[in-house]
Amino acid sequence: VIIMKIARDNMKKGLFITFEGNDGSGKSTISNMLYESLKKAGYPVILTREPGGDRIAEAIRNLILDPNNTDMDARCEALLYAASRRQHLISKVVPAIEAGKIVLCDRFIDSSLAYQGVGRAIGFDAVYQINQFAIDEHMPDRTLFLKLSPEEGLKRIQDRSFKDRLDQESQAFHDRVAEGYQQVLRQFPKRIHIIDASQSIEQVFQDCYEEIMALVKEHENGNS
Ligand code: TMP
Repeated sequence: VIIMKIARDNMKKGLFITFEGNDGSGKSTISNMLYESLKKAGYPVILTREPGGDRIAEAIRNLILDPNNTDMDARCEALLYAASRRQHLISKVVPAIEAGKIVLCDRFIDSSLAYQGVGRAIGFDAVYQINQFAIDEHMPDRTLFLKLSPEEGLKRIQDRSFKDRLDQESQAFHDRVAEGYQQVLRQFPKRIHIIDASQSIEQVFQDCYEEIMALVKEHENGNS
């Protein structure tokens, strides 16, 4: 009985799955579709996003993305993303994982590594370190990277009526972000799976759904 209790206590509860990609790669559309499908199939699932996903974190999001804040220092920006990450993680993500849910999160630490670390040239390691302080050991179980060229991504967001401060950045910035993601992929090859986001929405959805189902099955077997 005691051994079984220890095994149950050690059992990892829910799953933490994040979505990454350049602006315009389709993360929000796809994560919404996945959320609806998993819910319909009866899985306990929540969908959330960064920066934001919680009252305080949303306030930080507004501060970061306000197009008027063009004078924001790059390290200040990186710290604000990490602060909003911490708040959202503790108030929303961790409790959901503890309750056995599948957490789908639109962006997480890899965005900071690519956008602030490489895009803003603060340095990959420096950004990794401040994020370690923010997240402790809470790394995602799996990350789906929606791969699309930055040109194609920017073309897709061209028609958006509202462009936030980062959407308004130059092509050169977005090219550096794409380079940053390449570095992220080299650093975490096991955790991150690449999805070809240039395909039809249905196909991108299908590829993501299969990845998630494989992970869910693996998780169920590990816990049984
Ligand atoms: P969103 O458009 O996916 O809602 O994200 C808002 C912007 O914030 C997007 O341009 C990417 C950027 N971002 C960072 O620069 N660093 C981060 O850590 C996160 C989470 C987002």
